[in-house]
Amino acid sequence: MRPTTEVRTAVSDEQAPPSPAEHGPGASNASRRIVFPAGFVWGTATSSYQIEGSPAADGRGESIWDRFCKTPGAIVDGSSGDVACDHYRRFREDVLLMKDLGIRAYRFSIAWPRVLPRGRGAVNAAGLDFYSRLVDTLLEHGITPFPTLYHWDLPQALQDEGGWAVRSTAEAFVEYAEAVTRRLGDRVSRWITHNEPWCISILSHQLGKHAPGLQDWPTALAVAHHVLLSHGWAVPVIRRECRGAEVGITLNFEPAVPASRSAADLDATRHSDGSFNRWFLDPVFGRRYPADMVADYAAAGHIPASGVPAVKDGDFAAIGVPTDFLGVNYYTRKIVRAEVPESQNEPRTVVAAPESEWTTMGWEVHEQTFYELLCRIHFDYKPKKIYVTENGSAWPDTVGPDGRVHDPRRTAYLRGHLAAVGRAALAGAPMAGYFAWSLLDNFEWERGYTQRFGIVHVDYASQKRTPKDSALYYRDTIAAGAVEEDPAAGS
Ligand code: FCB
Repeated sequence: MRPTTEVRTAVSDEQAPPSPAEHGPGASNASRRIVFPAGFVWGTATSSYQIEGSPAADGRGESIWDRFCKTPGAIVDGSSGDVACDHYRRFREDVLLMKDLGIRAYRFSIAWPRVLPRGRGAVNAAGLDFYSRLVDTLLEHGITPFPTLYHWDLPQALQDEGGWAVRSTAEAFVEYAEAVTRRLGDRVSRWITHNEPWCISILSHQLGKHAPGLQDWPTALAVAHHVLLSHGWAVPVIRRECRGAEVGITLNFEPAVPASRSAADLDATRHSDGSFNRWFLDPVFGRRYPADMVADYAAAGHIPASGVPAVKDGDFAAIGVPTDFLGVNYYTRKIVRAEVPESQNEPRTVVAAPESEWTTMGWEVHEQTFYELLCRIHFDYKPKKIYVTENGSAWPDTVGPDGRVHDPRRTAYLRGHLAAVGRAALAGAPMAGYFAWSLLDNFEWERGYTQRFGIVHVDYASQKRTPKDSALYYRDTIAAGAVEEDPAAGS
């Protein structure tokens, strides 16, 4: 048995206490118990299209995902979110599930086409009523609502007018944000504008994997700009409708690691990091688009040498509006190899397989990268607070003969990544909360129902929910307010 040392973290503006276990003698063979402060937010996350179902209920309009799912070959199992977890009708049961697990905050998203079926104009009160009931139910059970305004289900009517590629969609987003916060702002005080602008722009408009399934660089970069702009414009409107609100945006990160120290691999890593991470972080934190990436995109012919054509005077000032927190989504890292023939490159020194573990998404499990990412964001960008708004893993879970779901790899992932959050807090990062992705198994976009991310298993035929072992681990962790580092980790 190794000795256990207890270390305490501090949130946000509190001063982090010194950490003898990390720096003192004997630290290397001590198993640590990292204690989170009382105010740390323990949550789970979902999104509207992935769980709600009921696409035609109460006047909801069509979204780009309804349309995309009908495209032959777009979704691996040919499915859609038409039923999903039937959460629209079962939300009370799902809130009770969270309550039983001791979950203190719930990050969900609001479906824009329920609120404004045509994207702008007439507000559909019945659509807003659903979220109002959800919020009331959460509050009744002591769970803090943490809504995201946009988690990818754009009204199809706006897509028909050009979608995020046109500036008027950013204006429509502000109208939508105003309608929602005016209705819910008396009870909801935490708001996330967007989920993952990289996915909204590059994954959906350049790689074509997500709705609307386009493959065009100039369009993707215009989309990224309008999404960021709509964030910047919406923040003051949300604050006006909801006094004292905390407002932020969620970005997703795929930290890039060079496969070798060759010049080619280092440069490819810079580019990967620039495209995925810095392109979004820099403007949100008051900088412009990174100059090296503008040069790369111009050299590739994606934009003119003068820069992104969608940018107008004043846009960067709007996008850089100070926020109250940054939402960080992290799942995996990327080992980057330059696209030069292997014979012309140096031997790889960073290799993922076979030592690493891989989820059913094909994503490498790597919590050290998560720790380094959180520290880097803190040191390079200084957000006031960081909420981990998504983190989780998919495994081939089944309900066993004992009626339970044994998912030790998810539990190990959760524990390792929570420990990384704790270590980042010890290093001074303003860690304010953690939302496990996901509360429920759900519709995993282009992967349909083939990926199970939930800490709660969903039998889609019966809609029966079964908390997995990882949910029970999470419940116990929340109750303890502390994480035991895996004694095997790092040894
Ligand atoms: C993120 C998405 C989320 C879910 C996870 C696995 O990129 O925000 O909806 O699909 O990946």
